[in-house]
Amino acid sequence: MRPRRSLLFAPANRPELFAKVLASGADIVCLDLEDAVPPAAKAAARAAAVPFLTADPGPERAVRINALRGLEGLRDIEAILSARPSGGVLFLPKVRDAGEVRLAHDLVEEAAPALALAVLIETAEGLANAHDILAASPRIAFALFGGVDLAADLGVQVAPEPLLYARSALVHAAARAGVDLLDVPALAFRDGETIAREARAARALGFTGKAAIHPAGLPAIHEAFAPSAEEIARAEAVVAAYRASPNGLAVLDGRLVEKPVVRAMERILALRDAIAAAQPARTE
Ligand code: COA
Ligand code: MG
Repeated sequence: MRPRRSLLFAPANRPELFAKVLASGADIVCLDLEDAVPPAAKAAARAAAVPFLTADPGPERAVRINALRGLEGLRDIEAILSARPSGGVLFLPKVRDAGEVRLAHDLVEEAAPALALAVLIETAEGLANAHDILAASPRIAFALFGGVDLAADLGVQVAPEPLLYARSALVHAAARAGVDLLDVPALAFRDGETIAREARAARALGFTGKAAIHPAGLPAIHEAFAPSAEEIARAEAVVAAYRASPNGLAVLDGRLVEKPVVRAMERILALRDAIAAAQPARTE
């Protein structure tokens, strides 16, 4: 298990940012070839992004390519796979159906088996097909909810209430497929309070993390998605009480401790351990 509390984007046409994203402390760092890069800069950005995908220690490295249903996306995947990266994540935007994932899966399998996949669900069609999309390849490491694109597709505001169904539907699909799920970056990228509020709300719905477009948002995101000291203490107490009970039933603070409760607590402890294990690589 690796922690995926945060993903920091940087446009691939700004190479001066590459060292900064890597040093930002984000769990996943992602160069963008898609909407943050203007058409005239696509080719140079692609050339700069290809060597970024490695299995080097430190944060998980991703490159968001252009949608596979367009020429730029095909150029991106060709360039990345031909370089046979030693690791990293090929991140597919605007995924509309499982066939798109299967195509990417087959190409990766043939040409660059060290690569993982990630998908961005941000269209009405992609939302409707989310279960099939997320189950289409065992290579999918995480999914991102593209709330801004989806809001435009649905004709609604980028606000919590109109996007609640989409968020919950994705939580369901991601849990079923066993992939991590990150929330859309906050548009108010310097507003720590807004980012913290959005991150806490996403966690409460079942998201494992939230993306960011500026490093200033990372501390609030990490705080929201890491288990708190109280949560860890409670999880330790519950697990200990359960293990000490002879018959698989325990009572702690007047509450029954059952198997599903223990599972949830073990998840908290596993996340704590994964965060601690990722830390040394981060501070190098
Ligand atoms: N990754 C790493 N470092 C970043 C960064 C990022 N995404 N955005 C800003 N920084 C750095 C800046 O280089 C600057 O570093 P310095 O102190 O060494 O000079 C510092 O953080 C403060 O930056 P600031 O001046 O506040 O931001 P900016 O005005 O330069 O940039 C944005 C603002 C939004 C243009 C920029 O953050 C950005 O391009 N974000 C990514 C957008 C993106 O990829 N979108 C696609 C996905 S939705
Ligand atoms: Mg988008």
